[in-house]
Amino acid sequence: MSSYEEIRPRELKPALLELEGISRASVEAHYKLYQGYVAKRNEILGKLATVDLGSANQVSSDLRALKVELSFAIGGIKNHEVYFEHLGGEGGDPSGALGGLIERDFGSAEAWRADLKATGMAGRGWAWTAYDWDEGRLFNYIGDTQNTYPIWNATPLVALDVYEHAYFLDFQTDRASYIEAFFGNLDWGVVNDWVQQYQITP
Ligand SMILES: [Fe+2]
Repeated sequence: MSSYEEIRPRELKPALLELEGISRASVEAHYKLYQGYVAKRNEILGKLATVDLGSANQVSSDLRALKVELSFAIGGIKNHEVYFEHLGGEGGDPSGALGGLIERDFGSAEAWRADLKATGMAGRGWAWTAYDWDEGRLFNYIGDTQNTYPIWNATPLVALDVYEHAYFLDFQTDRASYIEAFFGNLDWGVVNDWVQQYQITP
């Protein structure tokens, strides 16, 4: 049994309702999904507080089901908190410390963008630019769902949602154009604040 505190969804920044190419209706529907992950995380932790530990079983058990789906709910929270927080900007090439890191690890902003876009086209849910603390570098990782495949001890700095719910309303099946719109709305100031906060240094 473990104790826990309920968490609440973060507020949606007003700028998210005025993105270029990604409609208010799409963002509002998307934000509701995020609220759902928060609610489920709280609900699952509530159930885990009284789950029967004695019947834990790897084939099927309440404990197993709750813990597997908890990882999905928490992934959904963390992924979307990065996603919503770093949109609402002017896009362009990354500036500041992050610009330096991207140039060092990818060669150029252009090469980073091409690699992340391709990773997003190849993923079924997410593509992340994350800093791996063990390797000391940035890499574009692929994700298929909310809980696949995060890398231990890596910190996501850019989270590109490529689930269809992120773009179908505005772009139908044209994921490539959505990814371009995503790049055009990134707020590099926000990402650079994270770089500073986490003390990631070249
Ligand atoms: Fe999403």
